[in-house]
Amino acid sequence: MAFKERVFSGVQPTGNLHLGNYLGAIAKFVALQDKYDCIYCVVDLHAITQPIAVWGGPEQLPKNTREVTAAFIACGIDPKKHIVFNQSQVAEHAELAWVFNCVARLGWLNRMTQFKEKAGKDRENASVGLYAYPTLMAADILVYRATHVPVGEDQKQHLELSRDIAQKFNNDFGKSIQAHGYGDAFFPQPEPLIQGPATRVMSLRDGSKKMSKSDPSDQSRINLTDDADAIAHKIRRAKTDPDPLPHDEKGLERRPEADNLVGIYAALAGKSKVEVLTEFGSAQFSTFKAALVDLAVVKLGPINSEMKRLVADPVYIDSVLADGATRAQAIAADTMKAVKDIVGFVRR
Ligand code: TRP
Repeated sequence: MAFKERVFSGVQPTGNLHLGNYLGAIAKFVALQDKYDCIYCVVDLHAITQPIAVWGGPEQLPKNTREVTAAFIACGIDPKKHIVFNQSQVAEHAELAWVFNCVARLGWLNRMTQFKEKAGKDRENASVGLYAYPTLMAADILVYRATHVPVGEDQKQHLELSRDIAQKFNNDFGKSIQAHGYGDAFFPQPEPLIQGPATRVMSLRDGSKKMSKSDPSDQSRINLTDDADAIAHKIRRAKTDPDPLPHDEKGLERRPEADNLVGIYAALAGKSKVEVLTEFGSAQFSTFKAALVDLAVVKLGPINSEMKRLVADPVYIDSVLADGATRAQAIAADTMKAVKDIVGFVRR
């Protein structure tokens, strides 16, 4: 059976959106809008799976939720043509997640590497929600029967689990799915969408570490809220090595800082690294950084000012989220009705 093509993805409102979030996720979301119907979700239910100190508590969460929403819009996601909302406004996510908790097996969740990383040594003290995180993520996607999911490398295992859950649900309830007229599969197998070069943005202070919101040095990252001066300052101070730029990608091996800056330039310019090196091979970093500053300011400056404008207008942001939630819920409620019939819950 063919499912209608639909994109779903989510971003956690845990604060400090940076260039890595933009190039690695949001810019890809923007690019998919011409080809697919897209649903982009601020996953606040996922944010609270971590300790309160990580997501900031009840004062911080609404600010972070609105900031991610503002970033979506400022980066070019159209909330009228597509759907933008926050997860907690559509209760069907949590409802379907419960059913999936009963479909997924302990053994499957025990294999999740992100749980092991986030729980750390003190696993007894991790929240049950952190453990069940992947079943909620499967529900996010499948409550819309989404077929394509733009995700980074770190989320591929969770997406595979979503496929396993979809398949087991389809198998376990196969007869009921047939009997209710849904053919032989109710849920699609959602596929990862990795388009363009995998954009992994590294720290400006250490090319071997990912750019991260939790790095204590603000110099290590370009925040989406940084203005032109801050962007220029951080790029000029970015760590490099003493050699000029190489002429080909092989010359970037074992030069993580050079590789990172060339990668950032390429992603912002919409070019390949090879093209960038053809242009800048044998240039000194002073020259290359000046060009990168210009490019970054041209590309990120407007996003920065639009974000500032939007964050100052929470009434508008909240209206976008409310409208998105209404439209999302219309789809999600249909899915839940069908799921209830398929599982055998008596409903109104
Ligand atoms: N787990 C994702 C992340 O941390 C966020 C997320 C939640 C998500 N639900 C999703 C991504 C559904 C894609 C699809 O990046």
